[in-house]
Amino acid sequence: MTDGPAIQATGLKVHFQTSAGLVRAVDGVDLTVARGAFHGIVGESGCGKTTLARAVIGLQSATEGQVNILGRDRAEWARTDRKGFARAVQFIFQDPLGSMSRRQTVGQTLEEPLLIHGAGDRKARQARVQELLDLVALPATALDRLPRSLSGGQRQRVSIARALALSPQLLICDEPLSALDVSVRAQIVNLFARLQAQLGLTIVIVAHDLAIVREVCSSVTVMYLGRVAEEGVAKPLFADPAHPYSQALLSAVPSPDPRIEATRPRILLEGDPPSPRNPPPGCRFSTRCPVVEPRCREAEPALRAVQHGGAAACHLADARAHAMI
Ligand SMILES: Nc1ncnc2c1ncn2[C@@H]1O[C@H](COP(=O)(O)OP(=O)(O)O)[C@@H](O)[C@H]1O
Ligand SMILES: [Mg+2]
Repeated sequence: MTDGPAIQATGLKVHFQTSAGLVRAVDGVDLTVARGAFHGIVGESGCGKTTLARAVIGLQSATEGQVNILGRDRAEWARTDRKGFARAVQFIFQDPLGSMSRRQTVGQTLEEPLLIHGAGDRKARQARVQELLDLVALPATALDRLPRSLSGGQRQRVSIARALALSPQLLICDEPLSALDVSVRAQIVNLFARLQAQLGLTIVIVAHDLAIVREVCSSVTVMYLGRVAEEGVAKPLFADPAHPYSQALLSAVPSPDPRIEATRPRILLEGDPPSPRNPPPGCRFSTRCPVVEPRCREAEPALRAVQHGGAAACHLADARAHAMI
């Protein structure tokens, strides 16, 4: 057992060389996720969430930067103890069907990681498979089914159960709800919340939908164009977002409370984010920011402490914090 946060990434950059130029998908990100956290990484499509998540666990090699996982140097851990690393850290891909074999039954899909890691004899494996089904609330009748005969929600439950087979300490899920019907999303969100509480594991969810993250996450990172725009403890950050980008994202989320819904401000963001091939000078959000000032087009704001206890990369958030003192 080692100390240290579940994830500590420092100065992480992932640049892709393409025929159209250099894509700065992740461009200098520091990310800390505490153990036992339910952490959300949010931002519009293309802001680098998937690339960041993949680079954190080494599915994508980084151009620069360092990553520690559960207190250990990730690259060294994966090199010297590949199986131990694979047991401790699991990744759920965006498309649950794509990450399962179409010809394997649910039972075989769940047993496979146990076989690969030599976990127990046949009887013990069967007992574990049953335990996993219970954990994700799938009936025993699911065991003999093939992935294509399952609903989207059931498939996602299978991929979650499979990821939990070897009792990982850290689970990273890339857009785990985006392939699901809206009506099923709440069930899967609740499942994640229950698993996190029941198993005490650290969960990181990548999402472009803030509503999900607001509901369940304990901490959050808001990304914009390859960088962190804002980060902090979820509740205070969502109650008082400091970055105009977070404010705009949040203003697009309907509130279940009709009184808040009737009066909530709506900040419309115009246009798409600029290309990560050619980020604007100064603040990357300056081309769409509703409160942009001349200095924002000149100097890139660093992350700095803000009112809610987290940090935001905005010149004005800083001014606002000062004004409140
Ligand atoms: N392998 C790759 N080669 C070139 N560009 C890539 C590659 N992977 C991602 N990108 C680009 O990097 C940026 C961030 O992508 P991604 O991490 O998938 O964002 P998100 O998950 O937030 O939608 C996008 O502009 C995307 O087109
Ligand atoms: Mg993505």
